[in-house]
Amino acid sequence: MTVTKTWWKDATVYQIWPASYKDSNGDGVGDIPGIISTLDYVKDLGVDVIWLSPMFDSPQDDMGYDISNYEGIYPKYGTMNDMDNLIEETHKRGMKMILDLVINHTSSEHDWFKESRSSKTNPKRDWYIWRPPRIDENGNRQPPTNWVSHFSGSAWAYDELTGEYYMHLFAKSQPDLNWENPETREAIYKSAVKFWLDKGIDGFRIDVASMYSKTYPLVDAPITFTDREFQPCGQFFLNGPRIHEFHKEMYDKVTGNYDAMTVGEVCKGTREESLAYVSAKEKEMNMIFLFDVVQLGYGADDRYEYQGFNLVDFKKAVHDQCEFVSGTDAWSTVFIENHDQPRCITRFGNPSKKYHAKSGKLLAMLEAALTGTLFIYQGQEIGMTNIGRDWDISDYQDIDSTNYYKEFKERVGGDEQKLSKLMENLALVARDNARTPVQWDDSANGGFSTAKPWMRINDNYPEINAKSQINDPNSLLSFYKQVLKLRKAYKDLFIYGEFKVLDYENKNTFTFTKTQAGKTAYVVLNFTEEEQPFEQLADGKLDLLVTNADKLEETKLSPYEGRIYLLN
Ligand code: NOJ
Repeated sequence: MTVTKTWWKDATVYQIWPASYKDSNGDGVGDIPGIISTLDYVKDLGVDVIWLSPMFDSPQDDMGYDISNYEGIYPKYGTMNDMDNLIEETHKRGMKMILDLVINHTSSEHDWFKESRSSKTNPKRDWYIWRPPRIDENGNRQPPTNWVSHFSGSAWAYDELTGEYYMHLFAKSQPDLNWENPETREAIYKSAVKFWLDKGIDGFRIDVASMYSKTYPLVDAPITFTDREFQPCGQFFLNGPRIHEFHKEMYDKVTGNYDAMTVGEVCKGTREESLAYVSAKEKEMNMIFLFDVVQLGYGADDRYEYQGFNLVDFKKAVHDQCEFVSGTDAWSTVFIENHDQPRCITRFGNPSKKYHAKSGKLLAMLEAALTGTLFIYQGQEIGMTNIGRDWDISDYQDIDSTNYYKEFKERVGGDEQKLSKLMENLALVARDNARTPVQWDDSANGGFSTAKPWMRINDNYPEINAKSQINDPNSLLSFYKQVLKLRKAYKDLFIYGEFKVLDYENKNTFTFTKTQAGKTAYVVLNFTEEEQPFEQLADGKLDLLVTNADKLEETKLSPYEGRIYLLN
């Protein structure tokens, strides 16, 4: 099948998570003028598109994924005027900008919800999902189903005023919108989608795009955890019965009328289920994020029940993501970090002083060679790492981890050993790992702010920061620039090529080829801190394109060494 090429397929996207990016006014919180001040840095990295995480007005219970006004800006981040400037300045530099589209839920502070909760007869009552309580055998009031919310506890909250529960798959302050109601959908399209496209933005990253359609009637989930009151319930809202109808409608009525890039967060599903969102002929979204790689080792229904993984698992995950679109008219993404995932250098590389830059470069090479639209998360390009194991639970800010910790502590009766294990797992996979302030330089607060940052900064900012790397040709940052250019120069191979693993069972090295129209790239990556044998696993003459090694040996790979060759 010949692949149609468009700007959003070729693009390198840089994700900015505003709270921790750059503070311009000394209040300890990142802001829009701060972002504007770094646009040349972003452009210089080789970025084509900026994905800006929510900057809408919000009480910030879930860092802006709880929106109280789609058409307003969170005052600490700036004004609408600042936002207009940001869009203009981004475009001036030849880059595009996509925003987060968070429309599975709003904040409970959104006017729509305030009206909805005000009475059972309010015209907007049905814009959210309300149900009467269930009364148990002892005459006690219980939530309508036993579903667990993503942030622990019941997925239902009781509202005294009208004596009913509303559904919230995430925080209590994030009530789910009722997509069954056509009037609600029209309001979403107008306020959240069209408003911004008309302002000139270039598309959206679509939050939890597989969750809008719930399965009715709402029933209890099977018991997965016998020691827990509320149960995983994904089968009742992931890829639900009307989800494709909803996406097609949004495309027909809004996004399809613009040259918009749309990338959906589609969490779990079979290959067929996921392809249905992004097959070009279906006209829904351009591409989706697949989570095989970033979720490696997470517990199946609980990320904090961390299981570990090896390089063979890693290869399988990369393979499945690359294979996803093979032979179809669909498109996909490449990413290894975002605001919900820990730092890749800690998870997949080696953050020690000795191997920080080298293993960071190894991961940069891997990313640059994979099929799909490439996403890089703020700080990834300088190798920001996870927070330390010494962090106390009081240092954590994320509602996901802090709620989980509270519930877990109760569940295990304060068992110190289990709590310590949980803290270890948090330091490995919690979302806050990626949310620490960006380390711009080695001055106080890492140059992020002149004031105490809203969130604890990673202690290693004096060693790992952008300033120390920017003029160093051997730095990770310089290497990122180099491989991003290379990816573009050989885009047929890297962005569009067919992927094939050559050493599946090898637990130390990862060797694969990318092929397109008779041309082949040969990639070999040593994922260990030991030397590994270098054996050529495909016939032809190897011409080196890039490596992170100082000097190449014919028969050996040094620790974390990677090489990308053309195979002629
Ligand atoms: C996915 C977002 O990436 C995450 O940060 C957020 O908490 C949930 N969706 C809820 O909007």
